[in-house]
Amino acid sequence: MTAKDKRPLRSQAWFDNPENPGMSALYLERYLNYGLTREELQSGKPIIGIAQTGSDLSPCNRHHIELAKRVRDGITSAGGICLEFPVHPIQETGKRPTAALDRNLAYLGLVEVLYGYPLDGVVLMIGCDKTTPACLMAAATVNIPAIALSVGPMLNGWHRGERTGSGTIVWKARELQASGKIDSDEFVELVSSAAPSVGYCNTMGTATTMNSLAEALGMQLPGSAAIPAPYRERGQVAYRTGRRIVEMVEEDKKPSDIMTREAFENAIVVNSAIGGSTNAPIHLNGVARHLGVEIDNDDWQRLGHKIPLLVNIQPAGEYLGEDYHRAGGVPAVVAELIKAGLLPHPDAVTANGASIGENCRNAENLNPDVIRPVSDPLVKNAGFVNLKGNLFDSAIMKTSVISKEFRKRYLSNPDDPDAFEGRAIVFEGPEDYHHRIEDPSLEIDENCMLFIRGTGPIGYPGGAEVVNMQPPAALLKRGIHSLPCIGDGRQSGTSGSPSILNAAPEAAAMGGLALIRTGDRVRIDLRKGTANILISDEELAKRRADLEAKGGFPYPESQTPWQEIQRSLVDQFDKGMVLKPAVKYRDVAHT
Ligand code: FES
Ligand code: MG
Repeated sequence: MTAKDKRPLRSQAWFDNPENPGMSALYLERYLNYGLTREELQSGKPIIGIAQTGSDLSPCNRHHIELAKRVRDGITSAGGICLEFPVHPIQETGKRPTAALDRNLAYLGLVEVLYGYPLDGVVLMIGCDKTTPACLMAAATVNIPAIALSVGPMLNGWHRGERTGSGTIVWKARELQASGKIDSDEFVELVSSAAPSVGYCNTMGTATTMNSLAEALGMQLPGSAAIPAPYRERGQVAYRTGRRIVEMVEEDKKPSDIMTREAFENAIVVNSAIGGSTNAPIHLNGVARHLGVEIDNDDWQRLGHKIPLLVNIQPAGEYLGEDYHRAGGVPAVVAELIKAGLLPHPDAVTANGASIGENCRNAENLNPDVIRPVSDPLVKNAGFVNLKGNLFDSAIMKTSVISKEFRKRYLSNPDDPDAFEGRAIVFEGPEDYHHRIEDPSLEIDENCMLFIRGTGPIGYPGGAEVVNMQPPAALLKRGIHSLPCIGDGRQSGTSGSPSILNAAPEAAAMGGLALIRTGDRVRIDLRKGTANILISDEELAKRRADLEAKGGFPYPESQTPWQEIQRSLVDQFDKGMVLKPAVKYRDVAHT
């Protein structure tokens, strides 16, 4: 059978359309102008897009510019034709005001490209935090055959014989500088040591999390997520990914065939086992909504909370990305989960055509100190708790990172071991926090809880990673390193703080956080899953009416057109922070 005898491809509607040869000639004319031949474009060979997220503006993903060459080799050798194109850049650490603001913009742009151009399948070049969900969301909406390729983490960072992890080291360096142990040059040297090569953060931040979950969802070749960017295997898996997408087009294997409810349930369980970022529920819930799969934060608690932490990577553990890969990466983690009967759906199908169980069941765990067996985890119950009450409808807490110090201070009342109360200190965003945290008139002590608001998807467009707040210096000096922190913002996946975050609805959407005042008493009950301001419903209703009369919760004006557009359309964190009008569009390329 020649390529031309097979099922007609989508791209043929452009380049080889018998009903409209005139239009086909016009399309051909321009795509030939840099050297493609008519034989190639009319051969019936699949045309594969390479969605390039790497650029000079996106250092984490920049190595994809090199990897794309191997992807092309793979596509060509399997009989496909490559068209590489740029995706709107998203750099986590470089974009103001937040990189998260651009996730939905990159999503929209990629949807238009995949919908509007002659592509039969696409390789999604994923990596830095938001690039992965943006690409998966677009693939979900358009639903043409798609496979993801991670750019891979950086090599391990080292400083004076110790591993230094990207992102995570910043928290430590700040403490060292604040206490006068290092100066500003040593600060830069220490922080830069954590980023020794191309690739994304080598810690279990949002990037390693989302790339691992893209593999757990079945959207990457097995074993590919954790390979460090500079390793030869990274180029080799790029080649295999290119080969595989051509077959996927022939099989018409679409994102909706892979990213099923079962796949998301697997990913939630894997997220706990790897110690994944608190950004994961936002992004996975968002991808799921674009597929019409209903996943909420109750599912995260129900499926994920009791799963143990197996992967010993910073910030929760000791090691870094190279160690994770050498120990066996995602397949070794999945194998441990399967052995213990904890992976809910080993039959879920993946991009290579086999099930996740078939791919991973026999994967060897090559370093049980880096990837622990379920019988010897780093922490039990490593998933999230989903809290609700008059403060918000949903906010999550990663209870596994609660320190001994914190547990002793707040969770050791024998009559009520899972609950604590405190006096609220409320900050209006990160600038206000930095301005007032040392203000003695606040009388902050160990019985206080720090609140930050105005930092959600609308308030601080995209949501700021600011919920983990340091106590004032006087408390630090007394050895009190963390107070309970609650907010409608997010938190970097590289920080290990037990905050209550991603609160929805946010203050700017008139959630309960808009109504809290400094001095209110607040009660958190982790067993019951509740978070409440201890005031009457009448008082709350009165505060709400007063605020509404003033025009609602104030937030700063938008600085760019996109900020205004996103603010007017965006849903809350628990609903995936998606653009509300976008979720009704499904399968848009399959008309
Ligand atoms: Fe890009 Fe961490 S900043 S992966
Ligand atoms: Mg991050």
